[in-house]
Order: sequence, then C-alpha cells, then structure tokens
Amino acid sequence: MTASILLCPVCKESLQANESNKSLSCVNNHSFDRARQGYLNLLLAHKKKSKNPGDSQEMVIARQAFLNSDFYQPISDSLNKIVSDIVLKLQETRVETHTEESPYQVLDIGCGEGYYSQRLHNNLSEQQIEHKLFGLDISKDAVIAAAKRAKSEALLASKPMDSEWLVASAIDIPLQAHSIDIATCLFTRLMPESYHKVIKQDGFFICVNTGEKHLIELREKLYEEITKAEFDPVKNMGEDFELVDHQQVSYQNTLSSQQQIQDLLLMTPHNWRTKADKKESLASLEALTVTIDAQIHVFKAKVKAPVEVGEIEESAEEVITEAKPTTSGTINPWAKSTVEAEPVSEIVPEMPAQTPAELPVEAAIEMPVEAPVEIEEKDDTKEIPSGKVNPWAKS
Ligand SMILES: C[S@@+](CC[C@H](N)C(=O)[O-])C[C@H]1O[C@@H](n2cnc3c(N)ncnc32)[C@H](O)[C@@H]1O
Repeated sequence: MTASILLCPVCKESLQANESNKSLSCVNNHSFDRARQGYLNLLLAHKKKSKNPGDSQEMVIARQAFLNSDFYQPISDSLNKIVSDIVLKLQETRVETHTEESPYQVLDIGCGEGYYSQRLHNNLSEQQIEHKLFGLDISKDAVIAAAKRAKSEALLASKPMDSEWLVASAIDIPLQAHSIDIATCLFTRLMPESYHKVIKQDGFFICVNTGEKHLIELREKLYEEITKAEFDPVKNMGEDFELVDHQQVSYQNTLSSQQQIQDLLLMTPHNWRTKADKKESLASLEALTVTIDAQIHVFKAKVKAPVEVGEIEESAEEVITEAKPTTSGTINPWAKSTVEAEPVSEIVPEMPAQTPAELPVEAAIEMPVEAPVEIEEKDDTKEIPSGKVNPWAKS
C-alpha cells in the first residue's frame, strides 16, 4: 500500500488512515473522520472567511446539470489527452531514476463537482496508468457532489472508490511538498506559489481558462459593452513555472433549452454581474448557439535550488533558461528549467474573498439531463474520540 501524501492541516504532519480507512490521524493525534460520501474535510473552521466558502449549493447543482450534458466534453477530452501524453513522457524520462512502479499523483485544484476530475481519472484508468487522483475544492457542497459522483461510478463498476476528495483551500494545500506529478485547474483562480509547493520538481501544471470569444453570444445578450478580458495565465503563473504548451479548444454548440441556458448562467460569474432586465431577456429564449473558446496552458515547474548555508542569495545562477521549440511548434517541456534560489516568501493560509470581479470569466452551458445532486447534511463533524484534539472545536 502506498503511503499517504495527505498532511494534517493543524500541524502539517503526515496523516495516516486507520485500518478501516474511516478516519485519518497524525502523530499529534489530530483526527479527521471520513464523511459517509467518502470525502475528507481538511478545512479548519478558523481558516474560513465565511461559513460556506466557495461555490454555493445552487451553483454546484447548476454546474453538475450543465456539465453532465457533455456540452464541454471537448475541453475535458483535450485535457485528458494532454495529461496522458505527459505521463508517457514522464515514464520515459524517469525510467532511469525510478525502478519501482510508482503511481502518478494527480491533483485537480478547484475541482468543483468533479466532472473533469472524474473523466480524467477514468481516462487514466482506461489506459492502465497507475495513478491516484485527488480532487480539492473549498466548497463543501462541490466536494460532496464530486465524491458522490465518484462513489456511484465505482459502485457501477463494482470497484472501491479509489480517488480522494478534499475540502481544503488551494492557498494551503494539505499535501506533502513536491508530491504531485500533475496538477490541473479549470476555470479557477490561480495561486502559483501554493501549487509550486506541492508539485514535484519535474512536475506539471495545466490550467484551463476562458478565451476572448468564450460565450460571446451570451455575453452580448447580457452586457451593453463587452470588455476585453485581461486575464493572462502566463503572467499569473509568475517565475516558478515555465510555459511549455498552449492549446485552444474552440467550437460552437447550441444551448437547446431554457433550463440549459439558466444552468449555464447560474454556474458563471455572469449571474452576479448581470442586471435583472438583461436576465429577463434571456428568460424568453429557448435556444442559443454559443462559441466555446477554452485556452489550455501547460506549465512545467521550475526547479529551485536550496540555498546553502553561507551562500549569498544573489549568487543564484541561471543554468538553462529558455525552453526549446519542438518540431510541432510547441515549446519543449523536457528542456531543463531555470535553477534559482528559493525566494523568502510566505503564503498566508487563508481564503481569498471570492469577489466575482476577481474571478476569471468562466464559460459554458448545457442541459440538466440528470437529477440534481442531493446535498446531504454533513457528517464529517462526528465526535472525536476522547483524548484526541478536535480541530473543529471553537477556540
Ligand atoms: C468556476 S468553478 C470551477 C469548477 C471546476 N473546475 C469546473 O470547471 O467545473 C471554481 C471552483 O473553485 C472553487 N474555489 C474557489 N476558491 C477556492 C480556494 N481558495 N481553494 C479551493 N477551491 C476554491 C470554487 O468553490 C469552485 O468550485
């Protein structure tokens, strides 16, 4: 059995599962029960800025209904292909150093209700790529929906649920340093410093964001003026990552019911931003053809050399800075990265306020074919056995 890479959110020691895997604890006896849906809540109450941070239950239900119609499947398919190509490359490059079969650790940050994460997990499994998938989101409602999706798919396949779903913040990811081979992040704000801490030194980060034309037809109906999005993932990812590939997924599809239009609206920041009269004008539509424009950026983590005692920080030296273009015109992800000194910086372990204006405009539409997820009452706050520290207790 592979050792857990989960960390205790209280003391940052390793978390190990008990025999039944129903709870996990660290050497300091901080203990976390698994909810009956299978997820783990590792978000400490005092680290939350609101009672229910992240996407609301209403948004989660709308997103799940929309995504389950596979309106965005081409985005998911492209992401899956990129991830399996990376794994194949890693298998080649690591063959000399890794003799034992080590599963690939894959993390979806801001996984939402798990549509993309689960499809990625299924795709890797179909290709018999040994891996462990982690889905992480600050919204408990989203993680419940994702865990339920995973559990019901496992049940259908008569297998135990082998993925791990975490309520946690992307700012303070409760995973061991440099334990993740590939991290993904779709339509969610980027927090590169935090990602760099958990991604392996030869690991990858893939983000999916909306392009300029994304849902342009819908936006034209909602706003008097269309402002040009200024979000630039490359700039956002900063110095710790280098861009190695960029792909665009672009197509048109038709929202074929009022319900589908409403679900799309509800799952995007447009819902907050749009004035009531504009929303009303949408209410009379039975169909709307829209453009999907998703931008996928693939980054490789840059290696940071440890600063040795006595070494002056300024002496950090560039070894090879530039990524080399490959024959296909994309950048060579296997080129050596820049080696530089670790900057002295600290991540403030708290949730950023989720103001809609700060979120990159997200996309998509589609229809609720399936019954909305039933959000169950939490059962992850069970009494902690005596003698153990209860991280949920009010201080
Ligand atoms: C636009 S949704 C995208 C969900 C999913 N990736 C998808 O594309 O379907 C953004 C997600 O980020 C989550 N989120 C926001 N702030 C977060 C944080 N600090 N840490 C982890 N997740 C966060 C929200 O709860 C929400 O589920």
